[in-house]
Amino acid sequence: MHKIAVAKGDGIGPEIMDAVLSIFQAAGVPLEYETVEMGKWVFDKGFSNGMTPEAQQTIESLGILFKGPMETPKGKGVKSVNVTARKTWNTYANKRTFQTLHGVDTVFSKAGIPIDITIVRENIEDTYGGVEHLLTHDVALSRRFITRPGSMQVIRYAFEMARKKGARRITCGHKANIMKLTDGLFLDVFNEVAREYPDVKADDVIVDDLCMKLVSRPDLFDVIVLTNLQGDIVSDLCAGLIGGLGFAPSANIGDHISIFEAVHGTAPDIAGKNIANPTALLLSGFGMLRHLGLMQVAAVLENALLYTLESGLHTGDFGNKQDKPLSTTEFAAAIIGNIGKIPQHQPRPLLADQPPTPTHFKLAANPMLESAEALQEKVMGVDMFIESNLQPMMVAEKCLHHTGGIFQLITLSNRGTQVWPTGSSFTNLVNQYACRYESASGEPVSQSEVLELYSRLMQDFKICSTELLNQWGEKKGYSLAQGQ
Ligand code: NAI
Repeated sequence: MHKIAVAKGDGIGPEIMDAVLSIFQAAGVPLEYETVEMGKWVFDKGFSNGMTPEAQQTIESLGILFKGPMETPKGKGVKSVNVTARKTWNTYANKRTFQTLHGVDTVFSKAGIPIDITIVRENIEDTYGGVEHLLTHDVALSRRFITRPGSMQVIRYAFEMARKKGARRITCGHKANIMKLTDGLFLDVFNEVAREYPDVKADDVIVDDLCMKLVSRPDLFDVIVLTNLQGDIVSDLCAGLIGGLGFAPSANIGDHISIFEAVHGTAPDIAGKNIANPTALLLSGFGMLRHLGLMQVAAVLENALLYTLESGLHTGDFGNKQDKPLSTTEFAAAIIGNIGKIPQHQPRPLLADQPPTPTHFKLAANPMLESAEALQEKVMGVDMFIESNLQPMMVAEKCLHHTGGIFQLITLSNRGTQVWPTGSSFTNLVNQYACRYESASGEPVSQSEVLELYSRLMQDFKICSTELLNQWGEKKGYSLAQGQ
């Protein structure tokens, strides 16, 4: 029998987890559970990552974590245990499924527009690295990591999944028109992988347009793959389309460890009242059962849930406001009572069980993710980020003194907009400039030449940060300032 780790979580977590496990037990789901210590109270006990070392060891040896929502204590400098878990165990693909559920009324269900959308959100990179700095008292900077290998693993997962499910379409949501290097890289990898799957119809949509299209014609979409932050926002939008967070399941898939949880949080406003809706966690549990190859029992239980929803039973967060809502435990009991019943709409077929999705447990060392570099890298200059509250002309005057015959000053920008050599006096300024120095000869520069420039420039300014201007062949590894 497969053994999995279970963390009940905080707030409504224990109530909805108990409800789901009671449904599993009633259906004889062949799983053993080992409860692990994770969540707010573990932070409070002094474990700064929100889990005990024993919990970490158990999860790493079992490979599957079924978890309730967990609260991140505010203002204590600790990071979210949810994000830590996803990143520590490289659960790189966040799969969230949003389907019309009969009995859960929405504007779309009333209009007869069916929804069946799977969001695959990159789960590790992007601004969720939380690598942030205050460059000056007034200027905060967040680093957004989009990597080729990181994009490759999640996009490949999305295509494999789309092919397996016979998806009508796979769409990449992005903002590559603005973030040409980061989102541009994600989109390039998407197009590259798409060529390996000629049988899957692939296209891309700019994320703002995607949001508009999702709320007007959600039925046109099937699988959508996005970077982390955009995926987070778009998936909550999709949760709204099908009736809210109470119906949004989530799977964090990795090659070694996978985590199954609801999209929603701990709902502190209703915790301890036995009124929370366990459906999202239950749907996440079905995803977990299918991941483990337990297709039959997943279908039997999903049919019981669909039958229950169709019959109009509901918790307080949805359904007909005239009826008395059921409590969490009553709702779970109703589903248990409907085990074996077949819903009228979209009954799930009883597929044969399959071998579990392979989990690779043994890792001596984590392989360095690296892709081949096609061309020699050259350093063609440097961006020096300096603190100054002088006007652009005066900053430029000082900067021009320090070129040392090696560099030429190309541009000054403020929050990404060029303010020197040309610019507009209407451009708003903050006390932090980027000074772009490029090689004067057009030949690559050395790191020691950059360091010498740094020493000269710091006589006039505090240097907050630097970035090398890398180039591969004709491909420049840096963006141009607005107006440059
Ligand atoms: P939330 O999702 O907990 O609550 C938002 C609203 O939805 C509330 O009105 C709540 O009552 C309602 N709601 C959520 N789940 C429900 C359910 N199953 N049944 C009925 N109503 C439900 O979001 P919020 O308030 O922003 O976050 C609360 C805490 O949860 C925070 O500490 C946050 O960090 C944490 N959180 C944890 C997540 C996780 O463990 N994966 C995900 C999101 C938030």
